[in-house]
Amino acid sequence: MYVCVCKGVTDHQIRQQVSDGARTWREVREATGCATQCGKCACFAKSLTREAVHEARLEANMDLAYAV
Ligand code: FES
Repeated sequence: MYVCVCKGVTDHQIRQQVSDGARTWREVREATGCATQCGKCACFAKSLTREAVHEARLEANMDLAYAV
């Protein structure tokens, strides 16, 4: 779904940025352009980024747990 209508950024693109290594809202914003126009999407995009980073960290921890 579209998160940012102004820049045409989808939730998939935000999750992909995190999957590619972004760990902060600033990194996601700079990579996608999300929330750089009217800014109405910023709150939701930030929480989506936070959620994706949290999931990525959990996955990394699971990988470590299984590696032992
Ligand atoms: Fe994202 Fe306008 S909806 S900047």
